[in-house]
Amino acid sequence: MLSLIWIPSAVSSALTATVSRTGLPSGAVRNKPLFFQQISPDTPQVHLARSGEPNSRKNFIFHEKGTVNIALNLKLIHSCNIVKLTLQQARGQGGQAGPVAQQVSGFMPEGSQWASIGLRASFQVQNGTAVYVTLDCIRGRVNQITHEGGTNISILWVAV
Ligand SMILES: *[C@@H]1O[C@H](CO)[C@@H](O)[C@H](O)[C@H]1NC(C)=O
Ligand SMILES: *[C@@H]1O[C@H](CO)[C@@H](O)[C@H](O)[C@H]1NC(C)=O
Repeated sequence: MLSLIWIPSAVSSALTATVSRTGLPSGAVRNKPLFFQQISPDTPQVHLARSGEPNSRKNFIFHEKGTVNIALNLKLIHSCNIVKLTLQQARGQGGQAGPVAQQVSGFMPEGSQWASIGLRASFQVQNGTAVYVTLDCIRGRVNQITHEGGTNISILWVAV
């Protein structure tokens, strides 16, 4: 089955970012944020905090109330018993702080095998809501996170 929805661009906007080459967490990673590099232009509804802004390259900030759909892909080599990829909501105007979605992945034999973790989430945002991504490795280490296309985030904001 295939279902299609058409959303007029006047009531939606999209943003894509890939993980930043610098500051990628590795080793025994605990609650470490991922930093991004925006590859699509800014929109009036959402942008990645720029250098000079607080939480630069970490927080995606929404400027209008709506519903967002977030798709996050992480590609890495690790030896962790458990890897947790979490989408966190930062405190905005009247918003709550804490995780909004989480994906958990299990053990990979140590070596050079790439593992992929994907997370999809849909939730409401307010003007001022910010979200960011954290990574946790339980017992083991993160050897490498790819920055070449495999680790990215896409955000669709819709005015509903
Ligand atoms: C969002 O909040 C900012 C700062 O409070 C304000 O300047 C802006 O007009 C608001 N945007 C909308 C769409 O209400
Ligand atoms: C994002 O990552 C996915 C899965 O790793 C990949 O298939 C896709 O091409 C990437 N997109 C971009 C824009 O890098």
